[in-house]
Amino acid sequence: MATQDIARTINPCLRLEGEIAPPGDKSISHRAVILNSIALGEAEISNFAPGRDCWSTVSCLKALGVGIRRKGHGNSPTLIFSKSGTGGLREARDVLNAGNSGTTMRLLGGLLSSQPFLSIITGDASLRSRPMKRLIEPLRLMGAEIYGRGKDSFAPLVIRGKELCGMDFSLPIPSAQIKSAILLAGLFAQGRTVLRQPIPSRDHTERLLKYMGAELGSDGNVISLNPLSSPLGSISFRVPGDISSGAYFLVAGAIHPDAKLIIKDCGINPTRTGIIDILLAMGARLKIQNERVEAGEPLADIMVESSELKGVQIGGDIIPRLIDEIPALAVAGCIAKGKTVIRDAGELRVKESDRIATVCRELSRMGAEIEPLPDGMVIHGGKHLAGAEVDSHRDHRLAMSLAIAGLVASERTTIGHAHAAQVSYPFFWQDLQNLTR
Ligand code: S3P
Repeated sequence: MATQDIARTINPCLRLEGEIAPPGDKSISHRAVILNSIALGEAEISNFAPGRDCWSTVSCLKALGVGIRRKGHGNSPTLIFSKSGTGGLREARDVLNAGNSGTTMRLLGGLLSSQPFLSIITGDASLRSRPMKRLIEPLRLMGAEIYGRGKDSFAPLVIRGKELCGMDFSLPIPSAQIKSAILLAGLFAQGRTVLRQPIPSRDHTERLLKYMGAELGSDGNVISLNPLSSPLGSISFRVPGDISSGAYFLVAGAIHPDAKLIIKDCGINPTRTGIIDILLAMGARLKIQNERVEAGEPLADIMVESSELKGVQIGGDIIPRLIDEIPALAVAGCIAKGKTVIRDAGELRVKESDRIATVCRELSRMGAEIEPLPDGMVIHGGKHLAGAEVDSHRDHRLAMSLAIAGLVASERTTIGHAHAAQVSYPFFWQDLQNLTR
Protein backbone atom coordinates (compact mmCIF):
# COMPACT_ATOMS: atom_id res chain seq x y z
CA MET A 1 0.00 0.00 0.00
CA ALA A 2 1.51 3.29 -1.10
CA THR A 3 -0.40 5.31 1.49
CA GLN A 4 1.71 6.87 4.21
CA ASP A 5 1.17 5.70 7.77
CA ILE A 6 -1.08 8.32 9.30
CA ALA A 7 -1.97 8.69 12.97
CA ARG A 8 -5.26 10.34 13.94
CA THR A 9 -6.09 12.13 17.14
CA ILE A 10 -9.55 11.89 18.67
CA ASN A 11 -10.63 14.35 21.33
CA PRO A 12 -13.44 13.49 23.72
CA CYS A 13 -16.58 15.38 22.63
CA LEU A 14 -19.37 17.05 24.58
CA ARG A 15 -22.20 16.13 22.24
CA LEU A 16 -22.78 13.81 19.27
CA GLU A 17 -25.57 14.93 17.03
CA GLY A 18 -26.80 14.68 13.44
CA GLU A 19 -27.46 12.41 10.49
CA ILE A 20 -24.98 10.18 8.76
CA ALA A 21 -25.31 8.09 5.58
CA PRO A 22 -22.74 5.28 5.80
CA PRO A 23 -20.95 4.33 2.55
CA GLY A 24 -22.44 1.68 0.27
CA ASP A 25 -22.33 -1.87 1.62
CA LYS A 26 -18.98 -3.52 0.93
CA SER A 27 -20.28 -7.10 0.70
CA ILE A 28 -23.11 -6.13 -1.67
CA SER A 29 -20.78 -3.96 -3.79
CA HIS A 30 -18.30 -6.82 -4.33
CA ARG A 31 -21.14 -9.08 -5.45
CA ALA A 32 -22.80 -6.43 -7.62
CA VAL A 33 -19.59 -5.85 -9.56
CA ILE A 34 -18.67 -9.53 -9.91
CA LEU A 35 -22.13 -10.67 -11.00
CA ASN A 36 -22.62 -7.76 -13.43
CA SER A 37 -19.24 -8.67 -14.95
CA ILE A 38 -20.63 -12.04 -16.05
CA ALA A 39 -24.11 -10.76 -16.94
CA LEU A 40 -25.68 -9.68 -20.19
CA GLY A 41 -26.40 -5.98 -20.76
CA GLU A 42 -25.24 -2.63 -19.48
CA ALA A 43 -25.65 -1.71 -15.84
CA GLU A 44 -25.17 1.16 -13.41
CA ILE A 45 -24.39 0.60 -9.73
CA SER A 46 -24.71 3.72 -7.60
CA ASN A 47 -23.54 4.30 -4.03
CA PHE A 48 -20.79 1.74 -4.71
CA ALA A 49 -18.61 1.10 -1.63
CA PRO A 50 -15.81 3.69 -1.86
CA GLY A 51 -13.22 1.79 0.22
CA ARG A 52 -10.09 0.14 -1.17
CA ASP A 53 -11.45 -3.40 -0.89
CA CYS A 54 -14.11 -2.98 -3.55
CA TRP A 55 -11.70 -1.13 -5.86
CA SER A 56 -9.47 -4.22 -5.61
CA THR A 57 -12.36 -6.27 -7.02
CA VAL A 58 -12.96 -3.69 -9.76
CA SER A 59 -9.30 -3.60 -10.80
CA CYS A 60 -9.09 -7.42 -10.91
CA LEU A 61 -12.20 -7.56 -13.12
CA LYS A 62 -10.85 -4.83 -15.41
CA ALA A 63 -7.67 -6.88 -15.77
CA LEU A 64 -9.92 -9.81 -16.75
CA GLY A 65 -11.33 -7.74 -19.61
CA VAL A 66 -14.52 -6.29 -18.09
CA GLY A 67 -15.46 -2.78 -19.23
CA ILE A 68 -16.14 -0.83 -16.03
CA ARG A 69 -16.03 2.94 -15.70
CA ARG A 70 -16.29 5.05 -12.58
CA LYS A 71 -18.55 8.11 -12.52
CA GLY A 72 -18.28 10.55 -9.63
CA HIS A 73 -15.90 10.69 -6.71
CA GLY A 74 -16.24 10.98 -2.97
CA ASN A 75 -18.26 8.80 -0.68
CA SER A 76 -20.80 7.61 -3.20
CA PRO A 77 -19.34 6.73 -6.64
CA THR A 78 -21.27 5.09 -9.49
CA LEU A 79 -19.96 2.22 -11.62
CA ILE A 80 -20.97 1.89 -15.25
CA PHE A 81 -20.66 -1.49 -16.98
CA SER A 82 -20.28 -1.12 -20.73
CA LYS A 83 -19.51 -4.62 -21.95
CA SER A 84 -20.89 -7.93 -20.79
CA GLY A 85 -21.92 -11.48 -21.59
CA THR A 86 -20.92 -14.77 -19.99
CA GLY A 87 -17.66 -16.10 -21.31
CA GLY A 88 -16.63 -12.45 -21.48
CA LEU A 89 -13.79 -12.84 -18.99
CA ARG A 90 -10.37 -13.34 -20.51
CA GLU A 91 -6.97 -14.32 -19.13
CA ALA A 92 -5.29 -11.42 -17.31
CA ARG A 93 -1.84 -10.41 -18.53
CA ASP A 94 -0.43 -10.20 -15.04
CA VAL A 95 -0.94 -11.39 -11.46
CA LEU A 96 -4.26 -10.17 -10.01
CA ASN A 97 -3.96 -8.22 -6.77
CA ALA A 98 -6.75 -8.45 -4.17
CA GLY A 99 -4.96 -6.02 -1.81
CA ASN A 100 -6.33 -6.40 1.72
CA SER A 101 -9.62 -7.96 0.59
CA GLY A 102 -10.47 -11.53 1.57
CA THR A 103 -13.81 -11.23 -0.23
CA THR A 104 -12.08 -10.31 -3.53
CA MET A 105 -9.66 -13.21 -3.32
CA ARG A 106 -12.13 -15.87 -2.25
CA LEU A 107 -15.04 -14.91 -4.51
CA LEU A 108 -12.80 -14.49 -7.55
CA GLY A 109 -11.02 -17.73 -6.60
CA GLY A 110 -14.34 -19.55 -7.01
CA LEU A 111 -15.32 -17.80 -10.24
CA LEU A 112 -11.90 -18.14 -11.90
CA SER A 113 -11.72 -21.87 -11.11
CA SER A 114 -14.51 -22.27 -13.67
CA GLN A 115 -13.04 -20.03 -16.42
CA PRO A 116 -10.89 -21.58 -19.18
CA PHE A 117 -7.59 -19.83 -18.48
CA LEU A 118 -4.80 -19.41 -15.95
CA SER A 119 -5.09 -16.91 -13.08
CA ILE A 120 -2.74 -15.99 -10.25
CA ILE A 121 -4.10 -13.93 -7.34
CA THR A 122 -2.04 -12.34 -4.61
CA GLY A 123 -2.71 -9.79 -1.88
CA ASP A 124 -1.03 -7.67 0.79
CA ALA A 125 0.91 -9.13 3.74
CA SER A 126 -2.25 -9.48 5.86
CA LEU A 127 -4.22 -11.27 3.13
CA ARG A 128 -1.26 -13.53 2.32
CA SER A 129 -1.36 -14.77 5.91
CA ARG A 130 -5.11 -15.54 5.96
CA PRO A 131 -6.41 -19.12 5.52
CA MET A 132 -7.10 -20.28 1.95
CA LYS A 133 -7.33 -24.06 2.49
CA ARG A 134 -10.98 -23.50 3.35
CA LEU A 135 -11.41 -22.23 -0.24
CA ILE A 136 -9.10 -24.65 -2.04
CA GLU A 137 -10.44 -27.87 -0.51
CA PRO A 138 -14.12 -27.55 -1.51
CA LEU A 139 -13.27 -26.16 -4.96
CA ARG A 140 -11.06 -29.19 -5.58
CA LEU A 141 -14.03 -31.43 -4.77
CA MET A 142 -15.70 -29.76 -7.77
CA GLY A 143 -12.67 -30.67 -9.89
CA ALA A 144 -10.86 -27.32 -9.64
CA GLU A 145 -7.12 -27.04 -10.22
CA ILE A 146 -6.27 -24.45 -7.59
CA TYR A 147 -3.07 -24.27 -5.57
CA GLY A 148 -1.72 -22.09 -2.79
CA ARG A 149 1.54 -21.38 -1.03
CA GLY A 150 2.44 -23.40 2.11
CA LYS A 151 0.85 -26.69 1.02
CA ASP A 152 -2.28 -24.96 -0.27
CA SER A 153 -2.74 -22.89 2.87
CA PHE A 154 -2.08 -19.32 1.72
CA ALA A 155 -2.07 -16.90 -1.22
CA PRO A 156 -0.78 -16.32 -3.81
CA LEU A 157 -3.25 -18.71 -5.43
CA VAL A 158 -2.63 -20.29 -8.83
CA ILE A 159 -5.73 -21.41 -10.72
CA ARG A 160 -5.88 -23.35 -13.96
CA GLY A 161 -9.55 -22.85 -14.77
CA LYS A 162 -11.54 -25.76 -16.20
CA GLU A 163 -15.00 -27.27 -16.38
CA LEU A 164 -16.20 -28.18 -12.89
CA CYS A 165 -18.87 -30.51 -11.49
CA GLY A 166 -21.61 -29.43 -9.10
CA MET A 167 -21.55 -31.07 -5.69
CA ASP A 168 -23.53 -31.60 -2.49
CA PHE A 169 -21.37 -30.08 0.23
CA SER A 170 -21.70 -29.29 3.94
CA LEU A 171 -19.80 -26.09 4.76
CA PRO A 172 -17.64 -26.74 7.83
CA ILE A 173 -17.74 -23.05 8.87
CA PRO A 174 -20.43 -20.40 8.42
CA SER A 175 -18.40 -18.38 5.91
CA ALA A 176 -20.23 -16.27 3.33
CA GLN A 177 -17.03 -15.91 1.34
CA ILE A 178 -16.59 -19.66 0.92
CA LYS A 179 -20.31 -20.18 0.27
CA SER A 180 -20.23 -17.46 -2.40
CA ALA A 181 -17.04 -18.81 -4.01
CA ILE A 182 -18.66 -22.24 -4.42
CA LEU A 183 -21.87 -20.72 -5.80
CA LEU A 184 -19.90 -18.67 -8.35
CA ALA A 185 -18.03 -21.83 -9.42
CA GLY A 186 -21.36 -23.70 -9.49
CA LEU A 187 -22.85 -21.23 -12.01
CA PHE A 188 -20.56 -22.67 -14.70
CA ALA A 189 -20.36 -26.29 -13.47
CA GLN A 190 -21.95 -29.45 -14.84
CA GLY A 191 -24.91 -30.37 -12.64
CA ARG A 192 -26.52 -28.89 -9.56
CA THR A 193 -24.63 -27.52 -6.52
CA VAL A 194 -26.19 -28.04 -3.07
CA LEU A 195 -24.69 -26.26 -0.04
CA ARG A 196 -25.58 -27.04 3.55
CA GLN A 197 -24.69 -24.30 6.05
CA PRO A 198 -24.02 -24.99 9.75
CA ILE A 199 -25.47 -21.54 10.58
CA PRO A 200 -26.75 -19.12 7.92
CA SER A 201 -24.20 -16.45 6.97
CA ARG A 202 -24.83 -13.23 5.01
CA ASP A 203 -26.99 -14.07 1.99
CA HIS A 204 -26.27 -11.22 -0.44
CA THR A 205 -24.96 -13.59 -3.13
CA GLU A 206 -28.13 -15.67 -3.02
CA ARG A 207 -30.37 -12.60 -3.15
CA LEU A 208 -28.54 -11.02 -6.09
CA LEU A 209 -28.27 -14.28 -8.03
CA LYS A 210 -32.03 -14.83 -7.74
CA TYR A 211 -32.68 -11.22 -8.71
CA MET A 212 -30.51 -11.61 -11.81
CA GLY A 213 -32.32 -14.74 -12.94
CA ALA A 214 -30.25 -17.66 -11.62
CA GLU A 215 -32.12 -20.82 -10.67
CA LEU A 216 -31.33 -20.75 -6.98
CA GLY A 217 -33.45 -22.05 -4.14
CA SER A 218 -32.73 -21.46 -0.46
CA ASP A 219 -34.54 -23.08 2.37
CA GLY A 220 -33.11 -22.21 5.78
CA ASN A 221 -29.67 -23.75 5.85
CA VAL A 222 -29.76 -25.45 2.44
CA ILE A 223 -29.06 -23.68 -0.86
CA SER A 224 -29.36 -25.31 -4.27
CA LEU A 225 -28.17 -23.81 -7.52
CA ASN A 226 -28.55 -24.99 -11.11
CA PRO A 227 -25.78 -24.05 -13.52
CA LEU A 228 -26.62 -21.18 -15.85
CA SER A 229 -28.57 -22.22 -18.93
CA SER A 230 -28.55 -18.62 -20.18
CA PRO A 231 -26.53 -15.60 -19.02
CA LEU A 232 -27.55 -13.68 -15.91
CA GLY A 233 -29.44 -10.45 -16.60
CA SER A 234 -27.49 -7.36 -15.54
CA ILE A 235 -28.85 -5.28 -12.67
CA SER A 236 -28.75 -1.54 -11.96
CA PHE A 237 -29.44 -0.41 -8.41
CA ARG A 238 -28.36 1.80 -5.53
CA VAL A 239 -26.32 -0.11 -2.93
CA PRO A 240 -27.76 0.27 0.61
CA GLY A 241 -25.53 1.81 3.28
CA ASP A 242 -23.17 -0.58 5.05
CA ILE A 243 -24.40 -1.57 8.51
CA SER A 244 -20.83 -2.62 9.33
CA SER A 245 -19.79 1.04 8.81
CA GLY A 246 -22.94 2.36 10.48
CA ALA A 247 -22.03 0.16 13.47
CA TYR A 248 -19.43 2.67 14.76
CA PHE A 249 -22.11 5.34 14.99
CA LEU A 250 -24.71 2.96 16.47
CA VAL A 251 -22.26 2.20 19.28
CA ALA A 252 -21.07 5.83 19.59
CA GLY A 253 -24.67 7.09 19.91
CA ALA A 254 -25.51 4.49 22.55
CA ILE A 255 -22.40 4.97 24.74
CA HIS A 256 -22.02 8.75 24.58
CA PRO A 257 -23.82 10.54 27.44
CA ASP A 258 -25.25 13.27 25.19
CA ALA A 259 -26.02 11.84 21.75
CA LYS A 260 -28.75 11.56 19.17
CA LEU A 261 -27.79 10.17 15.76
CA ILE A 262 -29.69 9.00 12.70
CA ILE A 263 -27.96 6.46 10.46
CA LYS A 264 -29.65 6.98 7.07
CA ASP A 265 -30.30 4.49 4.25
CA CYS A 266 -28.64 1.65 6.14
CA GLY A 267 -28.89 -2.00 5.06
CA ILE A 268 -30.85 -4.13 7.52
CA ASN A 269 -30.58 -7.54 5.87
CA PRO A 270 -31.41 -9.92 8.77
CA THR A 271 -28.17 -11.87 8.19
CA ARG A 272 -26.29 -8.66 9.13
CA THR A 273 -28.33 -7.12 11.97
CA GLY A 274 -26.89 -9.02 14.95
CA ILE A 275 -25.45 -5.70 16.17
CA ILE A 276 -28.94 -4.20 16.45
CA ASP A 277 -30.23 -7.24 18.38
CA ILE A 278 -27.29 -7.06 20.80
CA LEU A 279 -27.46 -3.30 21.32
CA LEU A 280 -31.20 -3.63 22.07
CA ALA A 281 -30.47 -6.48 24.51
CA MET A 282 -27.89 -4.19 26.18
CA GLY A 283 -30.64 -1.59 26.65
CA ALA A 284 -29.86 0.78 23.76
CA ARG A 285 -32.45 3.39 22.82
CA LEU A 286 -32.58 2.53 19.16
CA LYS A 287 -35.41 2.73 16.59
CA ILE A 288 -35.68 1.46 13.02
CA GLN A 289 -37.61 3.84 10.76
CA ASN A 290 -38.60 4.13 7.06
CA GLU A 291 -38.06 0.47 6.17
CA ARG A 292 -37.92 -0.25 2.43
CA VAL A 293 -36.39 -2.66 -0.11
CA GLU A 294 -33.89 -2.01 -2.94
CA ALA A 295 -33.00 -4.83 -5.38
CA GLY A 296 -34.09 -7.47 -2.88
CA GLU A 297 -32.12 -5.92 0.02
CA PRO A 298 -33.96 -4.27 2.96
CA LEU A 299 -32.80 -0.88 4.26
CA ALA A 300 -33.98 1.72 6.79
CA ASP A 301 -32.98 4.75 8.87
CA ILE A 302 -31.81 3.89 12.38
CA MET A 303 -32.09 6.37 15.25
CA VAL A 304 -29.92 5.87 18.33
CA GLU A 305 -29.67 7.95 21.52
CA SER A 306 -27.57 8.01 24.69
CA SER A 307 -28.37 4.84 26.63
CA GLU A 308 -27.57 3.13 29.92
CA LEU A 309 -26.07 -0.10 28.59
CA LYS A 310 -25.72 -3.33 30.55
CA GLY A 311 -23.36 -6.24 29.82
CA VAL A 312 -24.62 -9.28 27.86
CA GLN A 313 -23.56 -12.75 26.67
CA ILE A 314 -22.85 -12.91 22.94
CA GLY A 315 -22.39 -16.33 21.32
CA GLY A 316 -23.90 -19.16 19.25
CA ASP A 317 -25.88 -18.63 16.06
CA ILE A 318 -25.80 -14.83 16.24
CA ILE A 319 -22.02 -14.66 15.67
CA PRO A 320 -22.03 -14.76 11.83
CA ARG A 321 -24.67 -11.98 11.93
CA LEU A 322 -22.28 -9.60 13.73
CA ILE A 323 -18.78 -11.00 13.17
CA ASP A 324 -17.39 -7.74 11.69
CA GLU A 325 -19.03 -5.60 14.40
CA ILE A 326 -17.37 -7.31 17.37
CA PRO A 327 -14.58 -4.70 17.71
CA ALA A 328 -17.26 -1.96 17.97
CA LEU A 329 -19.39 -4.09 20.30
CA ALA A 330 -16.34 -4.63 22.52
CA VAL A 331 -16.21 -0.84 22.99
CA ALA A 332 -19.90 -0.91 24.00
CA GLY A 333 -19.05 -3.71 26.46
CA CYS A 334 -16.33 -1.55 28.06
CA ILE A 335 -18.84 1.22 28.84
CA ALA A 336 -21.80 -1.03 29.74
CA LYS A 337 -22.42 -1.83 33.42
CA GLY A 338 -21.47 -5.42 34.28
CA LYS A 339 -19.82 -8.23 32.38
CA THR A 340 -19.97 -8.87 28.62
CA VAL A 341 -18.80 -12.26 27.40
CA ILE A 342 -18.19 -12.97 23.69
CA ARG A 343 -17.78 -16.67 22.72
CA ASP A 344 -17.86 -18.82 19.56
CA ALA A 345 -16.01 -16.10 17.64
CA GLY A 346 -12.69 -17.86 16.95
CA GLU A 347 -12.97 -16.63 13.32
CA LEU A 348 -11.90 -13.21 14.64
CA ARG A 349 -8.37 -14.61 14.87
CA VAL A 350 -8.12 -14.88 11.07
CA LYS A 351 -9.55 -11.51 10.05
CA GLU A 352 -7.46 -8.52 8.85
CA SER A 353 -5.71 -8.78 12.23
CA ASP A 354 -6.13 -11.31 15.06
CA ARG A 355 -9.04 -9.25 16.37
CA ILE A 356 -9.27 -11.07 19.69
CA ALA A 357 -5.67 -10.18 20.49
CA THR A 358 -5.63 -6.70 18.95
CA VAL A 359 -8.97 -5.52 20.37
CA CYS A 360 -8.02 -6.68 23.89
CA ARG A 361 -4.51 -5.22 23.70
CA GLU A 362 -5.54 -1.79 22.42
CA LEU A 363 -8.63 -1.29 24.60
CA SER A 364 -6.55 -2.34 27.65
CA ARG A 365 -4.20 0.55 26.88
CA MET A 366 -7.20 2.84 27.39
CA GLY A 367 -7.91 1.33 30.82
CA ALA A 368 -10.51 -1.27 29.81
CA GLU A 369 -10.65 -4.50 31.77
CA ILE A 370 -10.78 -6.95 28.90
CA GLU A 371 -9.30 -10.44 28.67
CA PRO A 372 -8.93 -12.63 25.60
CA LEU A 373 -10.44 -16.12 25.38
CA PRO A 374 -9.49 -18.63 22.68
CA ASP A 375 -12.79 -17.88 20.89
CA GLY A 376 -13.77 -14.46 22.22
CA MET A 377 -13.26 -12.15 25.18
CA VAL A 378 -14.53 -11.21 28.64
CA ILE A 379 -15.11 -7.53 29.34
CA HIS A 380 -15.67 -6.14 32.84
CA GLY A 381 -17.55 -3.01 31.87
CA GLY A 382 -18.35 0.26 33.59
CA LYS A 383 -14.69 1.27 33.82
CA HIS A 384 -13.58 4.72 32.90
CA LEU A 385 -11.66 4.87 29.59
CA ALA A 386 -8.64 7.16 29.46
CA GLY A 387 -7.13 8.65 26.32
CA ALA A 388 -4.00 6.78 25.21
CA GLU A 389 -1.67 6.04 22.31
CA VAL A 390 -3.15 3.02 20.55
CA ASP A 391 -2.63 1.28 17.21
CA SER A 392 -4.96 -0.11 14.56
CA HIS A 393 -2.55 -2.93 13.59
CA ARG A 394 -3.45 -1.84 10.04
CA ASP A 395 -6.96 -3.20 10.62
CA HIS A 396 -9.72 -0.86 9.42
CA ARG A 397 -12.34 -2.07 11.89
CA LEU A 398 -9.96 -1.64 14.82
CA ALA A 399 -8.99 1.90 13.73
CA MET A 400 -12.64 3.03 13.70
CA SER A 401 -13.63 1.18 16.89
CA LEU A 402 -10.76 2.86 18.76
CA ALA A 403 -11.95 6.23 17.45
CA ILE A 404 -15.39 5.61 18.99
CA ALA A 405 -13.75 4.64 22.30
CA GLY A 406 -11.77 7.89 22.08
CA LEU A 407 -14.98 9.97 21.96
CA VAL A 408 -15.90 8.89 25.49
CA ALA A 409 -12.38 8.77 26.97
CA SER A 410 -11.17 11.33 29.48
CA GLU A 411 -8.35 12.79 27.35
CA ARG A 412 -7.24 12.64 23.78
CA THR A 413 -6.48 9.34 22.02
CA THR A 414 -3.96 8.92 19.22
CA ILE A 415 -4.56 6.04 16.83
CA GLY A 416 -1.51 4.79 14.90
CA HIS A 417 -2.01 3.45 11.33
CA ALA A 418 -5.42 5.11 11.28
CA HIS A 419 -5.32 5.24 7.46
CA ALA A 420 -6.39 1.57 7.53
CA ALA A 421 -9.97 2.92 7.67
CA GLN A 422 -9.66 3.51 3.91
CA VAL A 423 -10.19 -0.19 3.34
CA SER A 424 -13.92 0.16 4.02
CA TYR A 425 -14.69 3.78 4.96
CA PRO A 426 -12.37 6.45 3.52
CA PHE A 427 -14.56 9.33 4.73
CA PHE A 428 -14.98 8.04 8.27
CA TRP A 429 -12.87 10.77 9.89
CA GLN A 430 -14.75 13.61 8.18
CA ASP A 431 -18.13 12.01 8.92
CA LEU A 432 -17.18 11.59 12.57
CA GLN A 433 -16.00 15.18 12.83
CA ASN A 434 -19.28 16.45 11.34
CA LEU A 435 -21.24 14.80 14.16
CA THR A 436 -19.13 15.96 17.10
CA ARG A 437 -19.95 19.17 18.95
C1 S3P B 1 -17.80 -11.27 4.03
C2 S3P B 1 -17.93 -12.36 4.85
C3 S3P B 1 -17.34 -12.45 6.18
C4 S3P B 1 -16.97 -11.06 6.70
C5 S3P B 1 -16.22 -10.26 5.68
C6 S3P B 1 -17.09 -10.05 4.46
C7 S3P B 1 -18.41 -11.30 2.68
O1 S3P B 1 -16.16 -13.23 6.12
O2 S3P B 1 -16.21 -11.18 7.88
O3 S3P B 1 -15.85 -9.00 6.19
O4 S3P B 1 -18.60 -10.23 2.07
O5 S3P B 1 -18.74 -12.40 2.23
P1 S3P B 1 -16.20 -14.86 6.19
O6 S3P B 1 -16.91 -15.34 5.00
O7 S3P B 1 -14.74 -15.26 6.20
O8 S3P B 1 -16.89 -15.21 7.46
